[in-house]
Amino acid sequence: MLKAAIVGATGYTGRELVALLSRHPGVRPFYLTSDSYAGKSFAEIYPQFRGSCELTLEKLDVKEAGTCDIIFAALPHGTSLEIVPHLLATGKKVVDLSGDFRLKEAALYPLWYGYEHKQSALLAESVYGLPEHNREAVRRADLVANPGCYPTSVQLPLIPLLQADLVEAEDIIIDAKSGVSGAGRTPKQPYHFPECAENFKAYKVTGHQHTPEIEQGLAAAAGRQVTLLFTPHLVPMIRGILSTMYLRLKPGVKEEDIAALYRKVYADEPFIRLLPAPSLPETKDVSGTNFCDIAFRADRRTGRLIVISAIDNLVKGAAGQAVQNMNIMLGLPETAGLM
Ligand SMILES: NC(=O)c1ccc[n+]([C@@H]2O[C@H](COP(=O)([O-])OP(=O)(O)OC[C@H]3O[C@@H](n4cnc5c(N)ncnc54)[C@H](OP(=O)(O)O)[C@@H]3O)[C@@H](O)[C@H]2O)c1
Repeated sequence: MLKAAIVGATGYTGRELVALLSRHPGVRPFYLTSDSYAGKSFAEIYPQFRGSCELTLEKLDVKEAGTCDIIFAALPHGTSLEIVPHLLATGKKVVDLSGDFRLKEAALYPLWYGYEHKQSALLAESVYGLPEHNREAVRRADLVANPGCYPTSVQLPLIPLLQADLVEAEDIIIDAKSGVSGAGRTPKQPYHFPECAENFKAYKVTGHQHTPEIEQGLAAAAGRQVTLLFTPHLVPMIRGILSTMYLRLKPGVKEEDIAALYRKVYADEPFIRLLPAPSLPETKDVSGTNFCDIAFRADRRTGRLIVISAIDNLVKGAAGQAVQNMNIMLGLPETAGLM
């Protein structure tokens, strides 16, 4: 059995990593860290792990993390930036779940994340871990920047369309909705039960930090700059992201062309499910899974293509995709522990 370290194990994505790795056939959680709960058992924090993961949470000791075969950093952005370079110095492969190593341009960080990025060399070195489109680079990577939840739900359906030049790159509107676990475990007032239950609201309109990440991925697919509108919403559910994307079809492109393209690109992808009409993606259908469900409709009246995707933000949007990346990095079957 290979050993995994999870730095920031008490957060929602850390907890999900522990859950997935506890059932993994080739890797087990071995070293779990927490600042606030050091000395307590993981099962004390999450009692559903009584009898399955009783590891003691420890304050991060980089040397200890380095005794593991793979290290996951499941820390807030800004904190990962400080800690990941030390984790990499152990010589072990690292999967970082934060946004700190996803953008290639350091100058974007003050604008979108509110801090100066002083690790440009690591931005150049990190590999963006969207396996369906970057598998070979992930295989060779020492540092994988695990994609954001919204960017995963958007890029999986849109990259093929832009690569094949079937839609206009200048006219993309993304309307996305997330469950509250997307905001993490640390209590914050807008995510307090009375604030978000029986409520539905947009947030960070024109200013969400996932905007440049999505633009970066789609620009690489289109071979030119992409500027898009991305509006996230908070939905009173615990898990799940539903993204509805509005695109303009290139002249002459028909619904059958889109269907044929998706079938070709995603035929052998174990975690992409193309839904046949009349089915449409629903967050419940992907809850607790590493699947991304995708469907689309061409609207003849407006010339628009509407693409809809659903993922579980904590699985394909975070921990599941991180385990998928780990499997690739360690030469294990890509679906191990995820089906
Ligand atoms: N939630 C999602 O759906 C989602 C999806 C994709 C990506 N992500 C990203 O994944 C990362 C983790 O997200 P999350 O939702 O799991 O967050 P979270 O629930 O707020 O957990 C954060 C974790 O980081 C630890 N931590 C906080 N500050 C620390 C510090 N200064 N030093 C060491 N450890 C510290 C906390 O540990 P203690 O309090 O125990 O010390 C906790 O274990 C974030 O960067 C987030 O953007 C989240």
